[in-house]
Amino acid sequence: MVARKQKARSRHGQAEGVSIRELSVDYDTEGKTFRALSQVDLEIEPSEFVCLLGPSGCGKTTLLNVISGFVAPTTGTVRVGDEPARSPTLARGVVFQEYALFPWRTALRNVEFGMEVTGTPKPERHERAMEFLALVRLDTFAHAYPHELSGGMKQRVAIARALAYDPPLLLMDEPFGALDAFTRDELQQLLSDIWQKTGKTVVYVTHNISEAVFLADRVVVFEGNPGRIKDVLEVGLERPRNVFGTDFTELESRVTGLVHDAPDRQQQQPGRPAHTRTPVEGAQP
Ligand SMILES: Nc1ncnc2c1ncn2[C@@H]1O[C@H](COP(=O)(O)OP(=O)(O)OP(=O)(O)O)[C@@H](O)[C@H]1O
Ligand SMILES: [Mg+2]
Repeated sequence: MVARKQKARSRHGQAEGVSIRELSVDYDTEGKTFRALSQVDLEIEPSEFVCLLGPSGCGKTTLLNVISGFVAPTTGTVRVGDEPARSPTLARGVVFQEYALFPWRTALRNVEFGMEVTGTPKPERHERAMEFLALVRLDTFAHAYPHELSGGMKQRVAIARALAYDPPLLLMDEPFGALDAFTRDELQQLLSDIWQKTGKTVVYVTHNISEAVFLADRVVVFEGNPGRIKDVLEVGLERPRNVFGTDFTELESRVTGLVHDAPDRQQQQPGRPAHTRTPVEGAQP
């Protein structure tokens, strides 16, 4: 708790919490109403790292879209800091699975983009963009174009871009889902380091149980039909986290059991290696 308060006062500005009360979201398609989220209650503290985990179609992206203001609640309320979540603003940094970089801009100019929109003067823009490229260890690639970068590098640029205009809240939708396992592990570590340095509130969607246990303060497990919270687990492990430690694998196993409605999976599968990135059933490959 103390650590979180310290992070909220970090040099990269204020972090904001999110308050979700009795949220339901319906989609109307072809005259039919589909309930995507039902009665979701969740309080996210400033500077907290929360992972949303659950099967495909349980409403994780919908929830991020409501927090970012792209989708309106059907019932209930969502507040970011003191404000109701409404029309999208740059106040919320968003990183998606697809890299979504402008192909005609260099890495540097991509990172500068958000600050151009917010009217940051050019010299400051340049300095901050270089600072955040250095944070994701890409300062030597500042003048490279997206097609000259690997998938992992592009996603690092996207993270730098989201952070550079100092949003109080970072929303990430399977940001490493398209990357190979090695790059993914590397970027999880990098993101964890960046989070500790910047103290941003992060809401992070993943299908990957190990990733959630590695990154999160709390893991929110969803179930589907209609999408709702099944359980919330406090991770409570020291950082940096040791993915091979007994505490880690035990917790990973607990979350796996919860997600799959099964008893401890490691007991069911004695040959399973302790550190395996376990996708949730129904996840897209
Ligand atoms: N714009 C939309 N119009 C109609 N239905 C939608 C829309 N967006 C999502 N849905 C439906 O709402 C449900 C939740 O979708 P959502 O994308 O939030 O799930 P998700 O948990 O992010 O899934 P995934 O893990 O596959 O990304 C799904 O059944 C989906 O078909
Ligand atoms: Mg999704």
